[in-house]
Amino acid sequence: MGYPLPYSNYEHEIYAASMLGARKPARTMDWRELEAAAYAHLPRGPRGYIQGGAGLGETMRANREAFDCWRIVPRMLRDVSERSLERELLGFKLAAPVLLAPIGVQTVAHPDGELATARAATRVGLPMIASTAASHTIEQIAQAAVEAGGANGYGDGDGDGPAGGSAGGQIPTGEAGGRSGAHDFWYQLYWPRDRELARSFIARAERSGYRAIVVTLDTWLLGWRPADLSDGFLPFLRGEGNCNYLQDPVFRAALPKPPEEDMASAVAYWAWQFSNPSVTWQDLAFLRECTDLPIVLKGIQSAEDAQLAVEHGIEGIVVSNHGGRQVDGAIGSLQALPAVVQAVGERCAVLFDSGVRCGADALKALALGARAVCLGRPCVWGLALGGEQGVIDVLRAFLAELDLNMALSGHASIDELGRHTVVAQPAPGR
Ligand code: FNR
Repeated sequence: MGYPLPYSNYEHEIYAASMLGARKPARTMDWRELEAAAYAHLPRGPRGYIQGGAGLGETMRANREAFDCWRIVPRMLRDVSERSLERELLGFKLAAPVLLAPIGVQTVAHPDGELATARAATRVGLPMIASTAASHTIEQIAQAAVEAGGANGYGDGDGDGPAGGSAGGQIPTGEAGGRSGAHDFWYQLYWPRDRELARSFIARAERSGYRAIVVTLDTWLLGWRPADLSDGFLPFLRGEGNCNYLQDPVFRAALPKPPEEDMASAVAYWAWQFSNPSVTWQDLAFLRECTDLPIVLKGIQSAEDAQLAVEHGIEGIVVSNHGGRQVDGAIGSLQALPAVVQAVGERCAVLFDSGVRCGADALKALALGARAVCLGRPCVWGLALGGEQGVIDVLRAFLAELDLNMALSGHASIDELGRHTVVAQPAPGR
């Protein structure tokens, strides 16, 4: 039996390349330094858009503080030589319980935008959630992901979800039993006013091979974001980040002139379509009618709403506050997680995001009952600094750190994590 290749081997790879081959990592491996480097690198508008939160940034701060309220309790003398980060999620077998959070208009970070991110996600073997507000279309992002998988020859290609794979592991190399399928990407829907446009987006995602529909519930209106407002920066108004609308047949049919002839009217119509604050729980029936794909509601922060999601037959939820970009002064997302998990039990898959910055954060969220975490801003830092390779490096570092923290705290598998893995402690200064 071959010795399994854990994600943690990335650590050896870095030391060996540096000490034996005189090749240092292209970028810092310190998350805080990476964040600072990305923001220093970006022009003012994009930096504010990516870094900024709503209002005073209290929710962003609460997202981080919520992680400080929990500490991992390491256990010793357990055999952790063979490890698995594999996770069953919505009927798919993920190589690791990590997805790339939907992030819109990624060309503000790097000209390759979502295409680079899609390729990176596929090469590392993690699902990307592609945003409706992407700078590339649903079809282009799917194509980039498929081509990246095809180029490496590890896509499962059977249309049946990601294949299994050995425990842990590095970037798949094409050997039999690769862990992720080239088709493993999800679509995030910003539900537009026109139901036929929503239906068209979902149909396009289905045709392109997306595996789940993630509906974002917390952004029917844009939050009050002082960084963007101070700079007057909203890239959508110059036609960046709304190509899914501008190229959609239903959207185009509603315009007096095509966007190529009258961009100002097309963008005005986009703004009207985007803002759709009258949607209620009853409207979810329409989405169910549109698709057989699993539906995941993103933006849940209360046990009551989680319970309502279950009652409406929803398969998954993402406990998220949009990275503190919508409601200022809201609870930290991790603070919401335990009650949500308790409310839904096994009836609905609970994913988590907002404030996840390192492997230990993921471990805490998984221990508190999340089936998977979504990584947001750190992927954009990698993208801004290094394009596709930058995202790959971020994802590999994140997985290596998660694998190491899991092993060093005495767990051989992600499924062994639980409430017993962490203890609550007051946040510093309280
Ligand atoms: C986002 N997020 C987001 N969410 C979504 O559903 N659709 C989208 O288009 C976007 N766009 C977007 C852009 C930028 C620049 C950021 C930072 C975030 C929210 C995202 O999916 C996720 O919830 C947050 O990024 C989580 O917070 P952290 O961990 O990144 O702070």
